[in-house]
Amino acid sequence: MAGSIGLTRICLLQATNNNNGAHLNYERDNIRNMKGYVSGEQPERPDIIKLNTNENPYPPTPAVGEALRGIHIENLRRYPPPTALPLRQALADLHDIEASGIIVTNGGDELLRLLLATFVAPDEKIATASPSYSLYEVLANAHGCTMVNYPLQADWSLPVDFAERMNADGIKLCFVVNPHAPSGTLVNVETLGALAAKFKGVLVIDEAYVDFVDPSLSYSTLPLIAAYENVMILRTFSKGYSLAGLRMAYGLGSRSLVDPMQYKTKDSYNTDLIAQTLAKAAIEDQAYAAATWQKVRNERTRVREALVTMGFEIPTSQSNFLLARVPAEQSAESLYLALKTAGILVRFFNVPELQDRLRITIGTAEENDRLLHSLKGLIAAPGKS
Ligand SMILES: Cc1ncc(COP(=O)(O)O)c(C=O)c1O
Repeated sequence: MAGSIGLTRICLLQATNNNNGAHLNYERDNIRNMKGYVSGEQPERPDIIKLNTNENPYPPTPAVGEALRGIHIENLRRYPPPTALPLRQALADLHDIEASGIIVTNGGDELLRLLLATFVAPDEKIATASPSYSLYEVLANAHGCTMVNYPLQADWSLPVDFAERMNADGIKLCFVVNPHAPSGTLVNVETLGALAAKFKGVLVIDEAYVDFVDPSLSYSTLPLIAAYENVMILRTFSKGYSLAGLRMAYGLGSRSLVDPMQYKTKDSYNTDLIAQTLAKAAIEDQAYAAATWQKVRNERTRVREALVTMGFEIPTSQSNFLLARVPAEQSAESLYLALKTAGILVRFFNVPELQDRLRITIGTAEENDRLLHSLKGLIAAPGKS
């Protein structure tokens, strides 16, 4: 018996190596040549302050716990509702639209992947206004299409003549993240409407962070999906509803965008029964979620003011993070590393246009106090950073 296990192991080892001892490569050319998405660090130690992946610092509504306890294990024997209809119906009530205009996905990332699989051929071009969510480029590379980056203006506003330039370049689909990541700035609905009207491709408005927009701005792109058939809005449970671990999101759009994904390209059961049930409980407690959003906004104002006083330059954020350009004599990378040593994780992007900045997620008041205290010490003693 032991001998046969040994033989199996030897065969497996041989199977993973060619004659030169190098691994065989079965990847498509585009996959071999691409780099994967680099996620923010996920520390195991509970005492680390985690301000690097834009999670909501507050727990989900207690209704989520109750819903979890109410799930009968017996029900897991069966497949879940394939298009998450009960959840879609609850979302339709929330947004006052038809459930047919909603697709539920396994995180926003699945929706982004589905959009490419459904609307973009591998040899076609997609676009974004850069810098933006780095996963877009990774997904484009994996799909085998070309990503065209149109630089944002210095104040983070959309490129001049964006639609005209994309049309001239034959762009099939464009991702606009709003509020913008990583700056947190917000483009107004009129600008997005004008873009949708002129752009000939599919316009995806990625609203992963929309719940943190100040309600006094009355920002809502929902009228755009009724007015423009080429607009798809992405929403997620990961940020506003404190459920990043659940992997649930949804898209809102016309039937010509939703139906092909809903009935052709998504996996037959792309979201599971537990996730559908908990997501429904979360959106049905709007008052709880809205209270966490307001706490984040209050802290966002306080942290921004404190950082600006220390010499950081920060655009006004409508999101749950701040993009802070470090004071002139400081190095963003050194500050990031020094904070890490102090047990505080923030995000440093080692790309030319962001190298002098840190992206800092808004935490609880206590977490933010610790961040501000550490940064004050590091900036007062630059030798240490
Ligand atoms: C801009 C943006 N869009 C979409 C997502 C996808 O979020 P999820 O897959 O957790 O729903 C994220 C996550 O960080 C994001 O930052």
